[in-house]
Amino acid sequence: MVKEKVTVSVIKADVGSVVGHSRPHPSMMQAAKKILTEKQKQGVLEDFYVTRVGDDINLFMTHYKGENNKEIHGAAWDCFQEATKIAKSMKLYAAGQDILTDAFSGNVKGAGPGSAEMTFEERGSEPMLFFMADKTEPSAYSPILSRIYLDPFTTTGLVVDARAKKGFDVEIHDVLDHKKVVMSSPEETLNILALLGDTSRYAIKRVSSRAGIGPACVVSTDKLNMTAGKYVGKDDPVCICRSQSGLPSVGEYTQPFLMTSWIAGGWMRGSHYGTFYPCSPEDSDPTYFDGPPRICCLGFQLNNGKLQGLEPLNTKGGDHIPVDFFGNPTFDSARANAIKTSKFLRTQGPFTPSILPAEEMEYTSRPEVIKELKSRFESVDEKPVKSVTKKKKDVE
Ligand code: 13P
Ligand code: 13P
Ligand code: MG
Ligand code: MG
Repeated sequence: MVKEKVTVSVIKADVGSVVGHSRPHPSMMQAAKKILTEKQKQGVLEDFYVTRVGDDINLFMTHYKGENNKEIHGAAWDCFQEATKIAKSMKLYAAGQDILTDAFSGNVKGAGPGSAEMTFEERGSEPMLFFMADKTEPSAYSPILSRIYLDPFTTTGLVVDARAKKGFDVEIHDVLDHKKVVMSSPEETLNILALLGDTSRYAIKRVSSRAGIGPACVVSTDKLNMTAGKYVGKDDPVCICRSQSGLPSVGEYTQPFLMTSWIAGGWMRGSHYGTFYPCSPEDSDPTYFDGPPRICCLGFQLNNGKLQGLEPLNTKGGDHIPVDFFGNPTFDSARANAIKTSKFLRTQGPFTPSILPAEEMEYTSRPEVIKELKSRFESVDEKPVKSVTKKKKDVE
């Protein structure tokens, strides 16, 4: 008998927060939970969990309806509509921020919310990690996932686990050209890194096992693409990972967050670089300069399509207790370093590399300034660049 494949979907959106861009109101999360409880009763969802990172509501959903399913995306859409109503009634900040269209067209793609979904045959034991980040962009995961899947000095499993050793297929999205390419590690590792190094253009969308285990991770990259007909900049991305037995182990996924600190783009007004601060969802309020970019990691076992955390078996209505990987003293030094290095970046003020490159700034007054100064700009009497190039060549 062919086993039915389970789909794990995370759909997330920021639809308003208390205070500024800090955190959703608890009643917004409750409204989402109520709607998804109903969907579970109706048999649309197998299971779900409602959580948040900073001001982003994250809906973890499991089901047997496949990816891009209208009922699943519709359920998430209803949650965000209801939460928006509450946010508006309370005059919360940026109420409805990520809702870019009035009408739901069957899928949240292009409508504002972010989504990451993976479909696979559930193994005998299926440990899963859910990373959620706020105040950053999807490509912020690229260097970390590169360490995890491509670097044997980071993930020993790539050397000692026969199936992990077969390598991974990495789907990379070119967000400017709206194209994707699948490349294979270890053979193409250096070329993969040559692309991913440009975080303004390339991001990892998916990684899959080459040992037949199926998807290993998927990242929400929605807003990197054209949303609502124009480039709208950052999204606060999620990343779903399967682990163990031919895939990186749980600890191999969490290790990079302690081995070093990671610079992530999108902090403060979507226009600054900051250092990832690994923490529990409860500690994810962006308290310093709207950040620094927070990242959480929650773990569940899958049990025949249901989420199993620390709660009793067969708990319904989303009342789960995930394992909170970053919410413990192990990551104290990573948090301290995140604050230290973020403070250092701030000392550079409104200059790169503290702010993002021109084309990536979510806020910029530069075009107006240039327009205003148009009549005042004059030609500079300098030697043409051509002669300099020639001289360089002559020396070679
Ligand atoms: P255990 O021996 O505790 O199951 O751990 C195995 C493992 O691979 C940990 O990463
Ligand atoms: P969010 O994308 O989390 O809403 O943050 C917006 C911002 O620019 C905060 O400074
Ligand atoms: Mg916000
Ligand atoms: Mg946010």
